[in-house]
Amino acid sequence: MKLTEQQLRQFDEEGYLFLPSHFSPQEVAIMQQEVPRVFAQRRQENVREKSGDVVRTAFAVHTYNPVFEALVHHPRFVGPAEQMLKDQVYIHQFKINGKAAFDGDVWQWHQDYGTWKNDDDMPTARAMNLAVFVDEVNEFNGPLWFIPRSHKRGVIDASHDLTTTSYPLWTINNDTIAKLVEQGGIVSMKGPPGSALFFHSTLVHGSGPNMSPWGRVIIYVSLNAVSNAIRRFKRPEWIAHRDFTPIDHWPEDSLIKTARQAAE
Ligand code: SIN
Ligand code: MN
Repeated sequence: MKLTEQQLRQFDEEGYLFLPSHFSPQEVAIMQQEVPRVFAQRRQENVREKSGDVVRTAFAVHTYNPVFEALVHHPRFVGPAEQMLKDQVYIHQFKINGKAAFDGDVWQWHQDYGTWKNDDDMPTARAMNLAVFVDEVNEFNGPLWFIPRSHKRGVIDASHDLTTTSYPLWTINNDTIAKLVEQGGIVSMKGPPGSALFFHSTLVHGSGPNMSPWGRVIIYVSLNAVSNAIRRFKRPEWIAHRDFTPIDHWPEDSLIKTARQAAE
């Protein structure tokens, strides 16, 4: 799959590209069925919310689950990422964020590259995310908030927050956010299940808590140009991967075929 010039320009200028219903209802149903099985597992890769036993983030699922392995090789996903980063890409991080009904906690304002630079010594910001909405994301269940065009600011000063949530994050202070929002505003990224959201690694983003009765599962695949591989291995392998092999494109129906084979 190839993005148009106009789509690539939107990503460059605004820092993100939203493609509603990028994955089909059949593909979404497969992911929706698989996520609870992943969250039910007691394993170190499943980080739980501070407040209780619900999963905040399931890391590295593509390394042990065939359905999510097929997702990361999906041509509707690898093709656009290669166009945006102008290189072959490898997976720096994979996570499924639960943001459970009533319990889902905030993600403070941050740039992903802030963490990748500080913790993993990623040379440049030639990296990005693909978010796949597994559930509908609406105004109530903790949608992602973006500050459009903030990715043009490069790396913004951040401090290491180890207390607010159950997951350490390099976060940006309120004065800086206020100034950025004066210029760029805030957009709230809502849409049906199966939507794909590509966003730049220096785009400033965060999300509020989920007080609603609706869960908000989003899968995030962080992709890095193979020429931009990380140089520090401080974080566990399942948080910051060390396999820099370029991801190859599997056939268009690979998610559906993989799920069928797993069910046999
Ligand atoms: C993230 O920024 O890494 C996660 C944000 C979210 O899931 O709301
Ligand atoms: Mn992030």
